[in-house]
Amino acid sequence: MAPLHVVVLLSLLSLGGTERLHTAGDRDGKGVGAVRHPTSERKHALDQSASISLRCAMTVGGWCRDFLEQTKIKWMAPPRGDTPCPNNCSSVGRCNYDIGYCDCPSQRHVGSNAEEMAQPLSHIGPDMRDLDTSAYGNMYSRCAGICDDDNAVCYCDGPFGRIPPAPGSPAGAPPLKVGRPLLTSYSSPDTTWSGQKSWGERTRDEVYGERGWCNSSTPVFNMPCIIDGLAGDLCDEPIEHMCPGQCSGQGVCNLGFCNCDPGYYGHDCARPRASVKPKPSRILTQPWLATAVIRPLIYVYDLEPLFQSKMLQMRIPSSWCVHRKYQSGNRSELVSNWVYAADTLLHESLLLSEHRTFDPDEADFFYVPHMATCHAFPINGWADWPWFHLPGGPRVMHLSNIILDTKRWIQARYPFWDRRGGRDHVWLFTHDEGACWVPNEVTPSVWLTHWGRMGPHTSNSAFLADDYNHDVIHPTLLPKGWHATTNITGHVCYDPVKDLVVPSVKVPGHYQHSALQGHPAKPRDKLFYFRGDVGKHRLTHYSRGVRQSIYKMAIDGGWGKTHGVWIGDSSDVPGDYSEHLATSIFCLVAAGDGWSGRAEDAMLHGCIPVNIQDGVHTVFQSILNYSSYGVTVAEKDVKDIVQILKAIPERQVHSMQAHIGRVWHRFRWATTPLLESELRRRLGEHAPILADGTDHEPITPLYPLPFRGDPTMDDAFDTVLQFLHSRINATR
Ligand SMILES: *[C@@H]1O[C@H](CO)[C@@H](O)[C@H](O)[C@H]1NC(C)=O
Ligand SMILES: *[C@@H]1O[C@H](CO)[C@@H](O)[C@H](O)[C@H]1NC(C)=O
Ligand SMILES: *[C@@H]1O[C@H](CO)[C@@H](O)[C@H](O)[C@H]1NC(C)=O
Ligand SMILES: *[C@@H]1O[C@H](CO)[C@@H](O)[C@H](O)[C@H]1NC(C)=O
Ligand SMILES: *[C@@H]1O[C@H](CO)[C@@H](O)[C@H](O)[C@H]1NC(C)=O
Repeated sequence: MAPLHVVVLLSLLSLGGTERLHTAGDRDGKGVGAVRHPTSERKHALDQSASISLRCAMTVGGWCRDFLEQTKIKWMAPPRGDTPCPNNCSSVGRCNYDIGYCDCPSQRHVGSNAEEMAQPLSHIGPDMRDLDTSAYGNMYSRCAGICDDDNAVCYCDGPFGRIPPAPGSPAGAPPLKVGRPLLTSYSSPDTTWSGQKSWGERTRDEVYGERGWCNSSTPVFNMPCIIDGLAGDLCDEPIEHMCPGQCSGQGVCNLGFCNCDPGYYGHDCARPRASVKPKPSRILTQPWLATAVIRPLIYVYDLEPLFQSKMLQMRIPSSWCVHRKYQSGNRSELVSNWVYAADTLLHESLLLSEHRTFDPDEADFFYVPHMATCHAFPINGWADWPWFHLPGGPRVMHLSNIILDTKRWIQARYPFWDRRGGRDHVWLFTHDEGACWVPNEVTPSVWLTHWGRMGPHTSNSAFLADDYNHDVIHPTLLPKGWHATTNITGHVCYDPVKDLVVPSVKVPGHYQHSALQGHPAKPRDKLFYFRGDVGKHRLTHYSRGVRQSIYKMAIDGGWGKTHGVWIGDSSDVPGDYSEHLATSIFCLVAAGDGWSGRAEDAMLHGCIPVNIQDGVHTVFQSILNYSSYGVTVAEKDVKDIVQILKAIPERQVHSMQAHIGRVWHRFRWATTPLLESELRRRLGEHAPILADGTDHEPITPLYPLPFRGDPTMDDAFDTVLQFLHSRINATR
């Protein structure tokens, strides 16, 4: 029988169609081999036949070499659980047959204490309509139509509206009709049915008139269709929803939660329970595991959905909290504007990886796929639930409480946390100040973070809801206060020995003009570059003041014309960001409210990173030879920045640029079918025409030289695995 599920899964995850046919091999066939390369860097392409010294260039210590030289271990059949769940999870949830635990999708929250019960949730009555649309308050979760109270999403009333499940249906029953979404005040009417003033911004006619959005097949006003699972001008085309791993082709994705086919379990439905005869599927065959496996082996927890999939279910726009989504016709697309996309990308990469194991006993590491950052935004405050330990309060309090609850949930249900004191557990913290606010109980684990701040610390976020310095106390729910209860103080934000600063996700389109995608290298006419928030409307401690002070000096001194220093927001420095970076020599890496993905931007464009953040490591700085390709300037020396950069000899500049070309591929995420196909397509499209229009290198080559080889090799994901491999013994 044809491996149908393989086909389904690949087409769901990738661009589909012909794009995937482009391979590095196709590209070589078009004559890349004919190009003369004057230096050793790219005489040899980075592909499976590359030497260890090429693959491990710029690495410090043995982590890369040891990974590549390891002996494969024998593949073993994965264990299959058969522990039943109480009451068949009321036919709503998905049973985790390893531990007999019901994983439930999001549902109308029934409060467990009197205070919550007294509040009408989302301000709606039993008919799912708002109690009084002339009353203000709780604006994010209010609804001028029919509320989906499982996910706190609003839909139209009326002919094109929602028809909720019949009264008395079991929890989780699907609606009789989905209906057109009616999201936020932007699309709601400005009066009530009886003509009183309401909180909406549209006229009543635009929504509920004869040609209104909710009443007409040819409405005068079309609400933007941004919700996961629906597409089209009228938001009535059902499309796939996004789930990490896309339910392995063995289940149906419901806004981030997988409803598995009977007999399958796990948060991506990857596992057949022991008592069923599995149908042919990718999981049964696991071709990549057929003979041998390489370490590290990683067990990905099926978390209580509240810490993971429910966050996805309760987000509203499909591009929030995720690295990819679907569009009309079920075509996949990468999400380019969600800066915390590593949460779902790393998770999905692990689910699909040959390093994944289903056997906790053979696992080297345990990955905890929490979605705390998604709670910080958009979930927190958009509905009246969920919250962690206390309604209200700064969002960073909820983040640390989610992490504490997640750790304790794991510890209560599995023996693996206590076995090694949590040292072999791996957590990703993508939020602005990374792991600074993580509870002390989680400090033994490996932390992957974007924020490499070392040493003692206090919060430096200029976004006050993220300030973890201030305690939160509640007389009944948190009488001892958040700090004492969750115990977050006293640890570093990042320990360069056990933790790793990983790149934030930059999609291929973000660095489309870079020679890393095979373009000819361009001459670099800008000495020093930064475009972004320069703190014009921020508190003074934003960016530790660095962006603001360089900006002020550059504007006051006319540095653009005099020194080629371009800094500012897009009104100061208009044009194409990728083009700019690809033509700059030095690029500023300065903090924002915490991390800011500027080391990634610099490296992906062959621009020398200039790190001006005292005591902060940039991406992979603990495992790469940073000083060979990057510059560090103390915050106190910012005033001399131009002199410092101009004093670096040209020979050293060229050396650093060439070194970037030997390691920049580690800063891109290239794992998962969608990213792989996108990168191969782009590399294949760039014929090997060089900057001067000829097919040979200019006499004085421009560095870094264009990338050659397999664009998925030794990417950010591989680098994380290679680092983890080096940490196995230290976590025993
Ligand atoms: C258990 O619930 C599932 C739905 O989650 C349903 O398909 C199945 O038939 C139920 N099994 C029993 C024995 O009730
Ligand atoms: C639009 O639909 C609503 C809900 O069914 C209804 O009350 C209203 O009268 C309709 N408007 C028009 C102009 O038909
Ligand atoms: C897209 O997927 C949805 C959900 O699985 C399905 O209902 C729809 O028919 C699909 N559309 C196309 C064009 O394949
Ligand atoms: C807080 O964490 C530190 C470091 O792990 C520990 O020494 C201390 O006992 C903890 N305090 C409480 C109140 O649990
Ligand atoms: C880092 O690279 C420089 C050359 O740029 C070299 O001199 C130095 O030995 C390297 N350091 C390590 C630890 O490999």
